[in-house]
Amino acid sequence: MARILTGIQSSGESGEVHLGNILGAIAPGVKLSQKSDNEAFFFIADLHSLTTVKDAEIRRQNVRAVAAAWLAFGFDTEKNVFYRQSDVPEVCELTWYLNCFTPFPMLANAHSFKDKSENLADVNAGLFDYPVLMAADIILYDAAYVPVGKDQKQHLEMTRDIASSFNHKYGDTFVVPEPLIDEKVMLVPGTDGRKMSKSYNNYLNIFLPEKQLRKAVMRIETDSRALEESKVPETCNVFALYSLLADEDQLKNMRKNYLAGNYGYGHAKQELFELILEKYKGERENYAILMNSPEKIDALLKIGAEKARKVAIPVLNRVREKLGYNSNA
Ligand code: ADP
Ligand code: TRP
Repeated sequence: MARILTGIQSSGESGEVHLGNILGAIAPGVKLSQKSDNEAFFFIADLHSLTTVKDAEIRRQNVRAVAAAWLAFGFDTEKNVFYRQSDVPEVCELTWYLNCFTPFPMLANAHSFKDKSENLADVNAGLFDYPVLMAADIILYDAAYVPVGKDQKQHLEMTRDIASSFNHKYGDTFVVPEPLIDEKVMLVPGTDGRKMSKSYNNYLNIFLPEKQLRKAVMRIETDSRALEESKVPETCNVFALYSLLADEDQLKNMRKNYLAGNYGYGHAKQELFELILEKYKGERENYAILMNSPEKIDALLKIGAEKARKVAIPVLNRVREKLGYNSNA
């Protein structure tokens, strides 16, 4: 059985999960976890979120929203392990040990630190140490494979370097994980044509109530061609989003309408809106039910944390022993 592990940040002030997250991470992640020979450890990286989010209530809400999205898409928490990073405090202890084996210049050269420290007013030490906590997240569970987006590639290289150098000094202690980076994963465009992202405020949250979702779809930017004019599918944001969700016939039909004219962007947006409702009917219902019973989400995460700690504690004891500390039974 292969153990796959990934962390999902509960970042952003809004805690919203968008179509980019769903098509780029949640749907493929759930699929990987369904393979009978995989065991998935998926967790909500709420310790990482402290580098930017300081408000307790926002953090609680974000954790639930992200958890509800995974559950709404059918992540099986019995077969797999689903938990909140902060519920397994062993990860903080391992981070300290790993810190003492991480060369300072390696962190100073991390792209994500350089990017973030240029764009944020609050450049704290947590932001600098972010990759070491991420390495601990992975190493603590003997994870073999880590599905991530391309932006996380350097963090995985650091994890491998830290694990290998420890193994080299102390003999085999850690599993050195392999990244699973799917180059084909589609980049979902936002309502303004850039990459859909919380940071650009150009996202569609498919879990919004109908009225708000329709409003969000209607805000997608288009050119100013008049109703009667023919339109160019290849350069249109509405068409791009529609093509990610539609089947072949639906897409053919919309293309025909674009080229024929007398079909306005309002029509196209309405079709996109209806397709989202139809395609994600079940997930939207699941999500609404879950968000109305936060205690259910919290209870599932608690069970997950217990399962996760059963794996984490023996790994941590291996390290303690190698370093001359007492093990914690
Ligand atoms: P955001 O840019 O909104 O902050 P995150 O960085 O938190 O999103 O991404 C969480 C996950 O969703 C990552 O695995 C990332 O690769 C995926 N993801 C985010 N935006 C997109 C997108 N526009 N298209 C495809 N995948 C995306
Ligand atoms: N840094 C990752 C991101 O921003 C989230 C994350 C935290 C993670 N710990 C992890 C991903 C461990 C994979 C494995 O997307």
